[in-house]
Amino acid sequence: MTMTEKSIAFREYLADRVSRVETELAAVWPTDWEIPANLEESMKYSLLAGGKRMRPILALTAAEALGGRLEAALPAACAVELVHTYSLIHDDLPAMDNDDYRRGRLTNHKVYGDAMAILAGDGLLTHAFYLVADTARFGVPAEACLAIVSDLSRLAGPLGMVGGQAADMEGVQGITDARQLQAIHTHKTGDLIVFSLLAGARCAGADERQLEALRTYGYSIGLAFQIQDDILDLTGDEAKLGKPVKSDERQHKVTYPYLLGLEASRQRVVELTETAKQAVCDAGFPSPERLLELADYLMNRDH
Ligand code: IPE
Ligand code: IPE
Ligand code: MG
Ligand code: MG
Ligand code: MG
Repeated sequence: MTMTEKSIAFREYLADRVSRVETELAAVWPTDWEIPANLEESMKYSLLAGGKRMRPILALTAAEALGGRLEAALPAACAVELVHTYSLIHDDLPAMDNDDYRRGRLTNHKVYGDAMAILAGDGLLTHAFYLVADTARFGVPAEACLAIVSDLSRLAGPLGMVGGQAADMEGVQGITDARQLQAIHTHKTGDLIVFSLLAGARCAGADERQLEALRTYGYSIGLAFQIQDDILDLTGDEAKLGKPVKSDERQHKVTYPYLLGLEASRQRVVELTETAKQAVCDAGFPSPERLLELADYLMNRDH
């Protein structure tokens, strides 16, 4: 295959996986559940607003890289997107980053009010655990489901993403400690990306060595992803991003470009992507190609 054919095949792969995830997300609540109308509308408003769906795709791709079935990994993949969407709704609240646009539309609280936005986040987070439990229906052993629940609690909770968000809220410009900044980024963004990969891999019966390789891959692309997000916040195009630029400056956030400058930040993204790919190459997965392509794709993203 030529480079162009490869890149077309990869784009088709991405489009197919996004569409499977979107279909699943559209039917994520059992039809006979009576959810208060405004709450359901508010959850769906943010969940079905587009978004790159990178985390579910990482979960599916990890499962497939190990030779697992995509269907078995779909509920866990959707669970990550629910957690991610809740984190964005809360991240945009006036008490946090105070942003008005997300995924190309008004932020949740701008439409439904702060109270409903908080509750929509709570609802999405809680339902993620329901979906993980549901994974057992697809033949994933109960032990693997339990490990996914435990991973999710650790990596999305106070030790992981929520802890990172708390540190991010307290870290104002003036911090000059790069290690501290790396820890914030690793938790607020890297942990959920690692969870996505581990969840997909566990659905495919991964062993500890494979999980460890995915941790290295995930923490590297996860940190690169947040550095890239910081770079795009400074240099990106609002229309492509679907969210405001210069939000970090407004909120006096300490970011990679703020601390290291743009060029060094870009260099760091390249190095981390290489580290990530190396970990996957060394692991001897049955089908590593898509994971490698995803790392490159994320490095070059503009939204
Ligand atoms: C934005 O995540 C928040 C970060 C952790 C950087 P994404 O860039 O994945 O946002 P969506 O899901 O595509 O909207
Ligand atoms: C958000 O980081 C990380 C989480 C939501 C956990 P940012 O605050 O930089 O994300 P954006 O730029 O608003 O998407
Ligand atoms: Mg934030
Ligand atoms: Mg934000
Ligand atoms: Mg940002």
